[in-house]
Amino acid sequence: MLLLGSAVAAECLVVDRLRRESGTVLAVLEADYLSATRAAYGTVARDYARLLAGALDRIPWDRAVLALFAGLARDRLGPVVDAGCGPGRITGHLHHLGLDVSGIDLSPGMLAVARQALPGLRFAVGSMTALDLPDASLGGLVAWYSLIHIRPVDVPAVLAELSRVLVPGGQLLLAFQVGDECRHLEQGYGHAISLDAHRMQPDSSPTS
Ligand SMILES: C[S@@+](CC[C@H](N)C(=O)[O-])C[C@H]1O[C@@H](n2cnc3c(N)ncnc32)[C@H](O)[C@@H]1O
Repeated sequence: MLLLGSAVAAECLVVDRLRRESGTVLAVLEADYLSATRAAYGTVARDYARLLAGALDRIPWDRAVLALFAGLARDRLGPVVDAGCGPGRITGHLHHLGLDVSGIDLSPGMLAVARQALPGLRFAVGSMTALDLPDASLGGLVAWYSLIHIRPVDVPAVLAELSRVLVPGGQLLLAFQVGDECRHLEQGYGHAISLDAHRMQPDSSPTS
């Protein structure tokens, strides 16, 4: 499921305020599920990239939505970030569509793959729970199947964090699977992992 819309104002995480005051606080307060997600994607990074290579070529709907997003975000309001970029396949696609785009991901292993594949683009380790970006600094932000790894109770605060970094009228593109359940994965991309993936409803913010 894909959602495309303008940023809305909301409050930010308390932990985000703490992060700004002390870089060490984030490490202390990081939720276990973020550490587990980082570990899982570190394990699968190379095989994830191999198995997803060319997937966009086979999904015209995804390409159409990304083209619409690029058309709305291009040139007008500032750079674009691909949050939860993984191996950079969406980052690279948006770059080819003419956007000034960089990638952020929780997993250094995923970013190593992205940097190798796309040496001309910028990638940085970071979490969408507390982006190391100034307020109102982006014209657009994409979270393509990355919000699915945020604990449902944290999703409203993360959406507020994404809103914080967008300029008024900035474009937000979210991709996720629709549903109500959490899937706990013990296997993925040919590896043993421990990873939670949450489905969401497009017309409501999960809170539990
Ligand atoms: C299913 S992959 C999608 C990767 C990429 N967007 C794509 O479509 O190929 C989910 C990605 O989100 C990243 N991720 C999960 N939680 C994150 C967080 N809190 N902040 C940043 N990245 C996160 C993971 O490390 C992983 O690379």
